[in-house]
Amino acid sequence: ADFSGTGVWRYESALPLSSGVTTQEGATPLYEVPRLEDEVGVETLRIKHEGMNPTGSFKDRGMTVGVAVARELGVGRLACASTGNTSAALAAYGSRAGMETLVLLPAGKVAAGKVAQAALHGARILEVDGNFDACLDVVKELAERGEAYLLNSLNPFRLEGQKTIGLEIMEAFEADYGPFPDRIVLPVGNAGNTAALYKAFRELLQAGAIDREDVPKLTGVQAEGAAPMVEAIEAGADEVQRWETVETRATAIRIGNPVNAPKALPGIRETGGTAVAVSDEQITDAQRDLAREGVGVEPASAASLAGLRKLRGQGVVGDDERVACLTTGHLLKDPDAAAAAGADPEPVPADTDGVLSHLVGDR
Ligand code: F0G
Repeated sequence: ADFSGTGVWRYESALPLSSGVTTQEGATPLYEVPRLEDEVGVETLRIKHEGMNPTGSFKDRGMTVGVAVARELGVGRLACASTGNTSAALAAYGSRAGMETLVLLPAGKVAAGKVAQAALHGARILEVDGNFDACLDVVKELAERGEAYLLNSLNPFRLEGQKTIGLEIMEAFEADYGPFPDRIVLPVGNAGNTAALYKAFRELLQAGAIDREDVPKLTGVQAEGAAPMVEAIEAGADEVQRWETVETRATAIRIGNPVNAPKALPGIRETGGTAVAVSDEQITDAQRDLAREGVGVEPASAASLAGLRKLRGQGVVGDDERVACLTTGHLLKDPDAAAAAGADPEPVPADTDGVLSHLVGDR
């Protein structure tokens, strides 16, 4: 079958190639969440769930382009540093392209589902005694020495694919609700998505497809224990200072050196957006509340809703706003976090009367 022209590849004219190494990524749902919309108190709230991509995160949109470019170039070995999702996507797309893949993971800090994916899709997994930023330092040097082709979000072709998140959101809002969203709220780690969305909006502007006032305010959310971008935005600084020590339950965004900050900071500022830090408790609350509306996301993804709540509480977000929250990865990526945040199983005997008396015991 020919899948060119579907999902990410529907936006072929905005991409550097006309087709890629594909498992039909993109075209993710934009969910209505009426109870959360009421509770947060905004005009419109929609959840763009990137966890519904083939490997369960937005990384597939980048890899379908990035791995295709690598194949065109005829490189030998693909590599990335990862908090997990990038490694799962690279392993899948690299294998699909028949290429060798190497992933460097911070030992003990990657959610179980992600390691399982990287392993089964056939990547060689190197567990590094250090955090994500240290892993990326090594991969960058491997690439500089010509030992591997880098597929982290420093690779511009990855961000080309990730632009399609913004294109889909703009199209869907226009088609379903009329106006474009006032604001897009997203979790920030390396700030690749922030940079990619900003580029998508600039290109839409240049093409005359939207006006300046149509550009959504890019609003980044980090975990309090890993918030160098928030620090820079609050200080009005032009550069982000690397945090050497980072910690958060949202391991996907446990990052102290957001390498796309030079592209992302102007995006946040020039769209009139902002950045905010949220606690692990706020993240878990948001993850649970999204799940109770049927939307299963991993902790880092729930940061977007947690950040929106905080900014709404501060009055930074108005009650008249139309907002899209990006949820970047699927609930099953981190089964341990999901189990810890959810209800405990209740032991019952294997007979109906026993089950009924257990349920009656509730009253
Ligand atoms: N959400 C999830 C679920 C992620 O996996 C990541 C990044 C982000 C948000 C942050 O996105 O870097 O564009 O700001 N994960 C990378 C990885 C670092 O290795 O999987 P960003």
